[in-house]
Amino acid sequence: MAAQPKVQLRGLVKQFETRRGTVTALDGIDLDVREGEFACLVGPSGCGKTTLLRILAGLERPTAGSIEVSRRDPARPLHAMVFQEQSVFPWMTVRRNIGYGLAMRRVPRAERERTVDRYLRLVGLEPFADAYPHQLSGGMKQRVSVARAFATDPEILLMDEPFAALDEQNKLLLAEELMRIWEGNRKTVLYVTHSIDEAIHLADRIVIFTAAPGRIKADFPVPIPRPRDPAAIRTHPAYAGLYERVWKALREEVLAARRRDGEPGAAQAR
Ligand SMILES: Nc1ncnc2c1ncn2[C@@H]1O[C@H](COP(=O)(O)OP(=O)(O)OP(=O)(O)O)[C@@H](O)[C@H]1O
Ligand SMILES: [Mg+2]
Repeated sequence: MAAQPKVQLRGLVKQFETRRGTVTALDGIDLDVREGEFACLVGPSGCGKTTLLRILAGLERPTAGSIEVSRRDPARPLHAMVFQEQSVFPWMTVRRNIGYGLAMRRVPRAERERTVDRYLRLVGLEPFADAYPHQLSGGMKQRVSVARAFATDPEILLMDEPFAALDEQNKLLLAEELMRIWEGNRKTVLYVTHSIDEAIHLADRIVIFTAAPGRIKADFPVPIPRPRDPAAIRTHPAYAGLYERVWKALREEVLAARRRDGEPGAAQAR
């Protein structure tokens, strides 16, 4: 069990220099994520969750500390990211969007088409394979983003509140779909959410951040067996106690963030 973690963060610090001074977004993050683990990151707004994913995606450089992602296959991309806002290419059809990462890697056409067909089926978008994003609903566009991220077959998958902009019912359906896909291929996932329910439904582990500057406050395993039925998960004997512990840890931080934001000059300082 002492296998090398897939993702290893040590002493990760990120500061932004702004006109108003230095903003510390992350203040010493130590985190290991195992291969195939689904980790949910939860914390108050502004605690650095997006910053952490952006650092992992290579979009920001840390101020201090180290990041290691262990690679199994150098031919595969290191990461794929699904953002909160729709990140599909409006000028490409659904099929081309999903196959984009594979085309960039010059995966042969026949193999690419097979993979794209599989993900089109998994997210229920076969009838829309040749449609353009403007012809799709918001939920469908997010399904395209999710399908593209999985089809790209990265070493790690980074998801930043991917369903936050959707209505409650679509959110549930997409979370179900995500679980089905993930259970079929067990990627290593770092998934940011504000929803405790969503975290318990999806995660192997829930990592709670402190109010800014972000540190890791608590780390809860989710002892609910898979496959999980989102409709029945609330009746699982472990659910209520876990929800309460997560909310207790989180509540203190949300209140701390609120106190901080309420301080005179706090908003301008950021
Ligand atoms: N490019 C930047 N320049 C200056 N400050 C930044 C930059 N990006 C993020 N920050 C600051 O870093 C802190 C963390 O921001 P981040 O977006 O990572 O928070 P978050 O946890 O994702 O919040 P939310 O839950 O609202 O999405 C905030 O104080 C933010 O203002
Ligand atoms: Mg964010």
